[in-house]
Amino acid sequence: MPSIFPFRGYEMIYLDNGATSFPKPRGMALAMEECMLKYCGNPGRSGHQMSLKTGEEVYHARQAVAQIFHIEDGSRLLFTKNTTEALNMAIRGVLKEGDHVVTTSMEHNSVLRPLKFLERKGITQTVVQADREGFLNGSDVEKALRPNTRMVAVTAASNVTGTKMPLEEIGDICRRKGILFLVDGAQGAGSMDLDVKKLHADLLAFPGHKGLLGPQGTGGLYVREGVKLRPLLQGGTGTESKSRVQPGEYPEGFEAGTINAPAIIGLGYSAAYVQKIGVEVIGCYEEELICRLEDRLSEMPFVRMYGPEPSRKTGITLFNLEGYQAEEVTDLLSSRYGIAVRGGFHCAGLAHKTIGTWKQGAVRVSVGPYNCPSDMDALADAVCELGCRRKK
Ligand code: ALA
Repeated sequence: MPSIFPFRGYEMIYLDNGATSFPKPRGMALAMEECMLKYCGNPGRSGHQMSLKTGEEVYHARQAVAQIFHIEDGSRLLFTKNTTEALNMAIRGVLKEGDHVVTTSMEHNSVLRPLKFLERKGITQTVVQADREGFLNGSDVEKALRPNTRMVAVTAASNVTGTKMPLEEIGDICRRKGILFLVDGAQGAGSMDLDVKKLHADLLAFPGHKGLLGPQGTGGLYVREGVKLRPLLQGGTGTESKSRVQPGEYPEGFEAGTINAPAIIGLGYSAAYVQKIGVEVIGCYEEELICRLEDRLSEMPFVRMYGPEPSRKTGITLFNLEGYQAEEVTDLLSSRYGIAVRGGFHCAGLAHKTIGTWKQGAVRVSVGPYNCPSDMDALADAVCELGCRRKK
């Protein structure tokens, strides 16, 4: 299995791509540098050459990101600072008193916490229970719908187990019933084909800094034409300056204030890079890496793995090591072996409850396109050594 990405300019073996991807394409950093050193004016605010050039580059970035999700009208893609902001925008910007929402027990806190907060505003919710591997049954979602259900909010893939959700099936149910479908693409974007049309997604939130290999501080929200969204922020849009009322046009009306143009331009570069390789190619490559790792881990009697087989999840392995706390494993892997993973609860306590790791948490390995098979071997060797030592 030769690595399709030969560049390896870092010291640690980085296996925490679910938190943020590393390394990034060099061209992305260069695009940001060029912007900051050569032309970065405030896009959409002034008529001079620097402002215009920045606006043009932001436009191209928007088009490049839109292509990843098969979004025809790039103006429906709003830039945010991360997925959390995009999810808050979708949830708080659409729901109103009396609405009911269906979500799942595998969601990240960036869905569960805004929904909890909105309970005090008269918005109710049903949390559909997934199974011990994190799978969700589409028909359970359908059964949870009520006459006042306004939205179904589901992750594309769990950030804890990587379990992929039946998005097309749920999207189809939502379309038939006239209910808004919000997809949290935090883990799937860049390695799963999240086609907003095929999924019947009305809203799709995604990060720029994970699978799309962009810089931190970037993310976005796709809003289907026809969906009524209230902006999270009101303020300067560079348009209709004499009006006291927030303009409603896309995207400006929903990106009030100066945007993070250098980072967005960097994201545009990365998105085009990912698109050129192909999200499905990246997804398959990551699956191969996880297969290799899990083949080894499954032979170790002191390792307990959670979640489904590699073909039914994104590039994640979740495990515990007998005799160790999850955080202890994470610390030892980092300090002794130079391997970066994430232990604990991954901002998704309910998902851990669902799969049976509520008390102890677990160690999450999350691969990216720059990892190679030898990274998997190094991790398996380290886990084997730790497990054997503790047993003695
Ligand atoms: N939500 C990110 C993770 O799963 C940060 O690690």
